[in-house]
Amino acid sequence: MQKIKAVSQSDYIKDIARFGLENDQEKLLMALNELIAHSKTTKKTNLALQLQSILKDSIRQQQSKTLMKVGSPVHFQRIEDKETDDLILEKITSEYSFENIIGEDGIKSELEYLVKEHASTDLLHYYNLPVANKILLHGPSGCGKTLASYVVAGELQKMMIVVNLGAIVSSKLGETSKNLAKLFRRAAAEDCIIFIDEFDSLGKVRDYGQDHGEMKRVVNTILQLFDYLPQTSMLIAATNQIDMLDPALLRRFDLNLKFELPNETQINDLIKLTLKNGKYKFDEPKQVDEIIAACKGLSYYSIQKTIVSAIKRSLFDKKPGKMRSLTLTIKTAIWSELISAEKKSLQITS
Ligand SMILES: Nc1ncnc2c1ncn2[C@@H]1O[C@H](COP(=O)(O)OP(=O)(O)O)[C@@H](O)[C@H]1O
Ligand SMILES: [Mg+2]
Repeated sequence: MQKIKAVSQSDYIKDIARFGLENDQEKLLMALNELIAHSKTTKKTNLALQLQSILKDSIRQQQSKTLMKVGSPVHFQRIEDKETDDLILEKITSEYSFENIIGEDGIKSELEYLVKEHASTDLLHYYNLPVANKILLHGPSGCGKTLASYVVAGELQKMMIVVNLGAIVSSKLGETSKNLAKLFRRAAAEDCIIFIDEFDSLGKVRDYGQDHGEMKRVVNTILQLFDYLPQTSMLIAATNQIDMLDPALLRRFDLNLKFELPNETQINDLIKLTLKNGKYKFDEPKQVDEIIAACKGLSYYSIQKTIVSAIKRSLFDKKPGKMRSLTLTIKTAIWSELISAEKKSLQITS
C-alpha cells in the first residue's frame, strides 16, 4: 500500500523548478501560489511575504513589457516603477522580536503598544479610533533605532522598505518633493513599513543654494504625504540629529521615541544578550562592575563590539587543544583595554 504523505515545502519547490524550466508559466504560477498558501499555514509568514512581493513585482513588470505604447499610462507607470526602485535601498522581512532589544521600560512598552495597535486595526477602526503610524526614533547612533524598526517589522510580520534618503534628496529644484511623493505612492500600494534612516538629511535641503522656498516645499510635501498615508502602512523615521528637523514636521509624528546610551543595568543585559547561550565567565569577576562603569558614554553598538572582540581574543589566548571547552572565559584585562581604546577612538573622556 502506498503511504500518503502531506505535501511539503520541498514538493512545491521541485514543482516550481520543473515548471520554471519547462517554461510553463501557468503551472508555475499555480505552484507558486500554492507555496505561498502553504507558507502561511505553516507560519512561515516572512517567506510568504517575500514570495508575494516577488510575484507582484514580476506581474507588474510583465504588464509593462507587453504593452509598451510610448506615452501611454502603462509606459509612464513603468518609468515610475524603475525610478522608485532606485529610491529603495532594500526590501526586507525581519525575524527580530522584542527579545532582541534592550532599552528603558518606557521605550519598550511604547513599541509594544505600537505593535498591538497595528495588530488590532480592525478593533480601532470599529470605534473610529486612529492608528498611530508615523513614528520618529531619535537619539545617539548605535543605540537601537534601526534595530527597533526591525523588531517592529518582525513582530508585525510585515515587509519593510528601507529608503535611500541620499538618493531622494536632490539638488534639483522640486525633485526631492517629487521623489518623496513617488515613494509614498509605492508604499501605500504595498501595505508595508517604510523606514527612512537619516531623516535629518531632508533638513540638508537647506544647504542647496540660497533657496529657502525649496526647504519649505519639501516640508510641506512631507506633511501632505503624512496625511495621505493609509492606516495600514507605517512610516518609521530615524535620526541622530533631531535639531536639524523642522518643528512643524516634528509635531506631526504620532510617536516620538528617544533612545539613550545604556546605563549599567542595560550594559549587563547587553552582555547576556550578546553571549546568548550564557556559557561564559569572566576570569576576574570582581572587576566586571568597574569595567561596566567605565563603559559610560559608549553606545550599545560600541560595547557589543568590544565584548565580541574580547571573547575572540580570550579564545586565541588559550593553549591549543583547550580552545573548545564548554565554558568561555573572558579575560577582563583584554576587555578593559578594548573599552579604553574604543573610548579613545571616539574621543570620549570620562
Ligand atoms: N538597544 C539595543 N539593544 C540591543 N542591541 C543593540 C541596541 N542598540 C544597538 N544594539 C546593537 O548595535 C547594532 C547597531 O545598532 P543600530 O540599531 O543600528 O543603532 P542606530 O540605528 O541607533 O544607530 C544593533 O544591530 C545591535 O547589535
Ligand atoms: Mg541606524
